[in-house]
Amino acid sequence: MMADPTYRGIALDAETALALLQWQAELGADEPCLDDPLDRYDLPDRVPAGPAAAKPAPLPPRDAGRDLVAMAETIAAAATTLAALAEAQEAFEAIELRKGARNFCFADGRPGARVMVIGEAPGEEEDLQGRPFVGRAGQLLDRMFGAIGLARDAVDADKALYITNVLPWRPPGNRRPEAAEIALMLPFLRRHIELAQPEILVLMGNTPCIAGLNRQGILKLRGVWDTAFGLPALPMTHPAYLLRTPIAKREAWSDLLSLAARLEVGEKP
Ligand code: URA
Repeated sequence: MMADPTYRGIALDAETALALLQWQAELGADEPCLDDPLDRYDLPDRVPAGPAAAKPAPLPPRDAGRDLVAMAETIAAAATTLAALAEAQEAFEAIELRKGARNFCFADGRPGARVMVIGEAPGEEEDLQGRPFVGRAGQLLDRMFGAIGLARDAVDADKALYITNVLPWRPPGNRRPEAAEIALMLPFLRRHIELAQPEILVLMGNTPCIAGLNRQGILKLRGVWDTAFGLPALPMTHPAYLLRTPIAKREAWSDLLSLAARLEVGEKP
């Protein structure tokens, strides 16, 4: 029989060990750790193994926030296709979140769809799969839009969705994105929208409202049509909020009907 595991020299029965592990996972500690803290932000950057790995390119200093945004703008503007933009954004090293995430999450659905949904940032499941909105909130999102006949896998652009997030990297422990992180990814998001060419944007929660409207307070903003990135934009409550607050689904339904009506009015013959 196997001996019970130990924690710092103290024997743990399997049930206690499992409970401790679950508790840590709930706090966002989803990687095994060392006994002594390791500053992962201080590690050398990820580079391919081999001779080319010897000298990683130095990053600009941390306080060069505005320079970094300018750099992001130049890089994003140079991309002329969605594939090129995805490649350039994934390779953009100046965002610290990149170091702690497993996978880059660019977009899902059909580019060219009339409706583009913008969320906040990947969560745990999205980070694992490298696709936005594939966890519980994403499943609710699919059901919500399905109720008005829109789906990310629809072949017809009129019935399709294109989905992305303000941040393509998961923030540690699903914490709220910081203003500097939003500002740094904004040039990529702006270019993403230009290249995907939607007719209408749906801003899911506060973070895309900050990015697109420079405003927050989603419970006031929701359901009121506005303009973001030069397009009609509808702020809606985030499906993760709706999972926690089912009573708010009624308002979300009314927002979906408003979107459906707008799509119908703009319907091409
Ligand atoms: N929440 C978001 O805002 N985006 C995702 O991709 C998943 C959860």
